[in-house]
Amino acid sequence: MPKNVRNLSQLAFTKKSMKKMGYRVIDMIVEHHTSIRNKKVRNRYDGTTSDSFLSIPPPRVGESPERVLKIIEQHITRTLTHIDHPRYFAFIPGPAHYVGALADTIASGFNIFASTWFDAAAAAQIETTVIGWLTNLFGFDKQAGGCFTSGGSASNLSGLAVARQVMLGGRWEDATIYASDQTHACIRKGLRILGFPMDNFRELVSDSNCQLPVDLLRQAIQRDRKRGKRPVCVIANAGTTNTGAIDSIDSIANVCELEGLWLHVDGAFGSAAALSRQHQQAFRGLGRAHTLVINPHKWLFQPLDSSILIVRDAHWLIQTFSVSAEYLQTLETKDVNYFDRGIQLSRSFRALKFWMTAKILGLNAITKAIEHGIKLAEYAQSMAAKFPDVQVTSDAQLAIVTFRFFAKEMTEADIDCWNEGIAKTITDSGFAVVCTTKLKGKTVLRFCTIHPQTTRQDIDETIRRLVTIARQLKRTLAGEGLEPPTKGL
Ligand SMILES: Cc1ncc(COP(=O)(O)O)c(C=O)c1O
Repeated sequence: MPKNVRNLSQLAFTKKSMKKMGYRVIDMIVEHHTSIRNKKVRNRYDGTTSDSFLSIPPPRVGESPERVLKIIEQHITRTLTHIDHPRYFAFIPGPAHYVGALADTIASGFNIFASTWFDAAAAAQIETTVIGWLTNLFGFDKQAGGCFTSGGSASNLSGLAVARQVMLGGRWEDATIYASDQTHACIRKGLRILGFPMDNFRELVSDSNCQLPVDLLRQAIQRDRKRGKRPVCVIANAGTTNTGAIDSIDSIANVCELEGLWLHVDGAFGSAAALSRQHQQAFRGLGRAHTLVINPHKWLFQPLDSSILIVRDAHWLIQTFSVSAEYLQTLETKDVNYFDRGIQLSRSFRALKFWMTAKILGLNAITKAIEHGIKLAEYAQSMAAKFPDVQVTSDAQLAIVTFRFFAKEMTEADIDCWNEGIAKTITDSGFAVVCTTKLKGKTVLRFCTIHPQTTRQDIDETIRRLVTIARQLKRTLAGEGLEPPTKGL
């Protein structure tokens, strides 16, 4: 029997060894949070040198926790690309706050079953409270509600399921749905899973600000009506992933109201910025959405995973997701049972982390951190624009700015290839992670600056290195035979 285990058949550890293991884990996490700035952003898991780790047979007999934690450090935490690093500018970074991690530890440690009032009434109350805070801040009426899900993809899918249920009684058939071409791919995934006929998904070409053009939307709806289709839903973006663009939600809400359409808003990333008074105006009309998605694991600084689907009328969730079963009969239907409001029956207590973070930090601090990210993207734009070989391709918006290196004498295809090389080179160097995206057919570099600990110096140094890499790579591409500058950056 392993030394730490009190009784093998009961799997019980001694109190002393539990504490030792727990403190060691907390030490690992605190060390990570306090030293992240000194770590390389991009690390790799090398399958070849980790063969022995991969090929171990299932352990018949337990090992010491210390040894297992060492394996985790050596092969897992050390090989991560740190999405929580202040110089991780790619995709949507994940600058999760330490308090959120502790809340998750409590949720797991007590194995809180955030599904039924019977098992965890206070957890349901906290979930309702957090959703109430947000619906209130976003301008929804009292009857609004919501439910936590695993992520933006799951919340969007759930929102579309609600739209289908409430609008069409669960059947799509001739329904048509409208969105801009900047809409996140998870919407298409969600629609496909829900059996939506994808030929009826109208991805409208976005305008020069990457927004959904409201005139095009109106025309598309009219065209479909003439063809005998059933326009049913518009998906608007409150912060696109590509450029942070916010659709004209209020105008789109007017169209939806006039045409009798459902308005689903994907604010998974951007709607957190509506907490800021300075930026609220850009989100005008958010409270008119029928369904809205916001992801605390993006810009509300929570660890994965945490997302919320908000609905204008809480009852719609029950209409869509509630089912009965004889083994659930002990539960009172009048109680708040969150399993009745979403896909999952068993579900973890995801609401705790944002609640605990908000209680400890306060919403003012969280809002300031969001504003800091927005200012940093504006700063990055101003710094990048100083270089004559940089073209800003979308202005800083909601902490996202895009630009590209550009040379008159190069073809568009070569410029694309050059910019891809620049992003790859800085990322491989480990100093910063920068990704590319396509904007109106062009490859551009994309910076997302939501980490509260990112500084202007981080931006300056990253841009300086990008410029150095760009110029070296350009010479390489022009055939001067230089090695791509992966070293000594
Ligand atoms: C606007 C938007 N919607 C949806 C998603 C999908 O969210 P998740 O990755 O949490 O599933 C993302 C992810 O970045 C996003 O930016």
